[in-house]
Amino acid sequence: MTRAVLGIIGGSGLYDLPGLVNARWERIAGPWGEPSDELHRGEVDGLEIVFLPRHGRGHAIPPSEINYRANIDALKRAGVTDLVSISACGSLREELSPGTFVLCDQFIDRTFAREKSFFGKGCVAHVSFGFPTSPALSGHVAQAAEAEGIPLRRGGTHIVMEGPQFSTLAESNLYRSWGCDVIGMTNMPEAKLAREAELSYASVAMVTDYDCWNSEHGDVDVPTILKVVRENASKARRLVLRLARDLPRDHEPCPKGSDRALDTAIVTPPEA
Ligand code: ADE
Repeated sequence: MTRAVLGIIGGSGLYDLPGLVNARWERIAGPWGEPSDELHRGEVDGLEIVFLPRHGRGHAIPPSEINYRANIDALKRAGVTDLVSISACGSLREELSPGTFVLCDQFIDRTFAREKSFFGKGCVAHVSFGFPTSPALSGHVAQAAEAEGIPLRRGGTHIVMEGPQFSTLAESNLYRSWGCDVIGMTNMPEAKLAREAELSYASVAMVTDYDCWNSEHGDVDVPTILKVVRENASKARRLVLRLARDLPRDHEPCPKGSDRALDTAIVTPPEA
């Protein structure tokens, strides 16, 4: 059995988690360049927790410039087994109003200017990705939300755009017609790389706005997003702390196979 180590990638409000024992910032070096920041590590009731600010402390790294490979590599090197992504997202559905948490289980990747794989020339690999999130870890996130009385919609399709500009009305309506529920700029290639790193991955979208399709709410802008993020920071903190208290201390192998994603993925023979 492997001891569970909980990783969190998210924004401000989560790196000053109350109740974190032996809290410290640690620099982790790897071959993929610089992660967004040092890792904030500590323990909650004996469970190791590792937090990485996705845009760096001070939010100075835009979505297209995040070194996703270095981030996932650093978390893997820190021993993370279960990774929960928390990100601000726009809503593409009337019923998903700002303040709602959505536990996403599917993605559409519309990003195009990012490094998306640890593999490349010299070692070709194709991991299965039909089910990009871990049902086991997502289930624990849902239970933590329930225990804390935090409304959370289970399941949802998350479309990830390149940005940094928000969508046009035509794009927003197109994504709605595709059945997408929320839109963000950072979960890809993060989720793909987590799969290549054989990490269980769960994604919580914190809805901050209605993008631009909902004429009753006008066009999304940054002040609107920041206001909702601030209002929801304490909910996100409670969710993470409850999850850390309740997560089984032995890592549960993901039923969808992410723990063994590389077993069947590598095409290049070892001697090549
Ligand atoms: N992040 C928060 N709101 C967003 C939106 N409407 N589009 C893309 N990313 C977002």
